[in-house]
Amino acid sequence: MIKKFLNLGYQPLANSYLRKKQINKKEKKFKLEIVFNDKNFLVSINKKIPTKEMFNSDYPYRSSLSKTMVKSFKNISSTIKKKFNPKFIIEIGSNDGAFLFNFNKKNIIGIEPCKNVATITKQKKYKTIDKYWTKNLARSLTKNNNCDLIYSANTLSHIENLKETFGAINLALSKNGVLILEGPALLPCIKNNIYDQFYCEHIYVFSTIALNEILKNFNLEIFDLNILNTHGGSTRYFIKKKYNKKYKIKKKVQKEISKEKKFGLHKFETYLSFSKRVNKSKEELINILKKLRKDNKKIIGYGATAKSCTVLNYCKINDKYIRYFLDTTPDKINKYLPGSKIKIKKYRKLSKKDADVVFLGAWNFKKEILKKEKKFKKAGGKFLIHVPKVKLI
Ligand code: TYD
Repeated sequence: MIKKFLNLGYQPLANSYLRKKQINKKEKKFKLEIVFNDKNFLVSINKKIPTKEMFNSDYPYRSSLSKTMVKSFKNISSTIKKKFNPKFIIEIGSNDGAFLFNFNKKNIIGIEPCKNVATITKQKKYKTIDKYWTKNLARSLTKNNNCDLIYSANTLSHIENLKETFGAINLALSKNGVLILEGPALLPCIKNNIYDQFYCEHIYVFSTIALNEILKNFNLEIFDLNILNTHGGSTRYFIKKKYNKKYKIKKKVQKEISKEKKFGLHKFETYLSFSKRVNKSKEELINILKKLRKDNKKIIGYGATAKSCTVLNYCKINDKYIRYFLDTTPDKINKYLPGSKIKIKKYRKLSKKDADVVFLGAWNFKKEILKKEKKFKKAGGKFLIHVPKVKLI
């Protein structure tokens, strides 16, 4: 049974940043509710928005803009070369090439349906297919299961049709091939009140117990995993075909399953108490912003993330509170955050003259950003963060 546990209100598509001429027009909004499936433990948003509305030539996200992500992709690439030595790799969701570029052009194909981003890797002569990952595409790219490694990071959560996705993976992957999936993990998300991991384009946040159940339907199984600290806590899963005996299932996998069950990720009550904490977090964030405004503090935002779209719309925060956001992404600059309609300006180093308090929309890069903005903090500037708890740092 599918059970609702959190209502995040009416939300626009988080990545549909508005141009100036669009800000007075009515935006398409979707009621965003988060649900739990008690059969396979999967947590997802209830409204599945057609993929084509979400991923098109306006898609702004760029992996290469974060040092943290570039480093993370470099590390996994060298592990892949050492451990698996693949001759034919497919990356699903290759974005601007942060993973792709670590490999020889001859050995790798990127799948990236957002044509604007796919162009970046095509220009560097990396074979990139600007289409959705489907069984037909898998058939056309691979000859009888000859792909020995499929990698996909922060992408599967965005694809509604898991049957088509895993079906296509099964068609492409060789007998002893390895599938590596990584993305935000449900355990830290629920533990640390990371409700902004849910937005229209982010359909699923996977747990090991849920992924394990889903993979059974495709004769696939997890044989190893890594816990990562990217995106507020991610998991990287190493997956194989069931009859592939080349890799033994590591004890770590069962350990992680036990950890998740101990926390209660298989029980609906866990999600109900998460929902209560999220409501409290909303109240606290509104109260702190009201107080700062009353004290005449200048507040701006940093990192116009898709995640901050959820927070701003759920808490009904607009430019009365946060004057504007700074962001490094070229496609976001001089546009407005959907729903809240807060302007996004080109990033410049923070100065106390610009703001007293900076709301960290990209809290997942807190370490990287705080290091970069040491001077602002030294001059008495504060960051406002809402996870795991609302506080000024
Ligand atoms: P991210 O959290 O990766 O994704 P999502 O949109 O899926 O929630 O987005 C990070 C955003 O923060 C991106 O727009 C770039 C921006 N950013 C900066 O402006 N400066 C920085 O130093 C970093 C690390 C990110």
